[in-house]
Amino acid sequence: METQVDEIAAGVYRLSTFTDAIAGGFTFNQFLVAGDDALLFHSGPRQMFPLVSAALAKVIPLERLRWVSFGHWEADESGALNDWLQAAPNAEVAVGTLGVLLSGHDQAIRPPRPPLADGEVLDLGGKRVRWIDTPHVPHGWDAGLLFEETTATLLCGDLFTHNGAVPALTEADVVGPASATEDLYHFSCLTAATAPTVRRLATLAPRTLGIMHGASFAGDGAAALEAMADDYDRRFQASIAAAQ
Ligand SMILES: [Fe+2]
Ligand SMILES: [Fe+2]
Repeated sequence: METQVDEIAAGVYRLSTFTDAIAGGFTFNQFLVAGDDALLFHSGPRQMFPLVSAALAKVIPLERLRWVSFGHWEADESGALNDWLQAAPNAEVAVGTLGVLLSGHDQAIRPPRPPLADGEVLDLGGKRVRWIDTPHVPHGWDAGLLFEETTATLLCGDLFTHNGAVPALTEADVVGPASATEDLYHFSCLTAATAPTVRRLATLAPRTLGIMHGASFAGDGAAALEAMADDYDRRFQASIAAAQ
């Protein structure tokens, strides 16, 4: 295995590790937002830390990492957190309110920064990331996402997860592959709030989607999010019909 580095938007780097141990192949992607204060979105799993940290060091020195953030607490999102905190002495955890209250104080070897409120912007110097609460979307009570404002890049975590050996960045459809992967893994938490939460993200009008598992997407992010919301709506209605 190796970790490939690609700049998917100005100063936003995708660190991608492909494994064929999962059917059809699967990518684990972290995103480095290289502001003056560098931020990493997703720590990656502990076992991938040697690969991912070597990849990040090709872009910036590890010690320059200031923030480690992720969509929710789970092995691939937060597993290597403490390895990063050890490697980068100035790094702190930056996640939302539930993430700090439920897990942050217990799981991190250093106290997290005060919780990022819904809509709060973290100014990285040259880059600005806005935290958005998305509870249970696509999964995890503490779920949230980051929107990098200067490049209109939505770091959308597990949303749009799709498997396969994919390019770093695509302009092709990502909704169809994500829907097929949902059929396979059922990784999303379907509630009445799922589609409306995804539609709220569409109002950000992202030009790039940084997808944690799969290719990143360049193009009309709002249209992709609306189509993903339609897919979730269809699934939710079908689940209600099936229960009646
Ligand atoms: Fe997850
Ligand atoms: Fe994930």
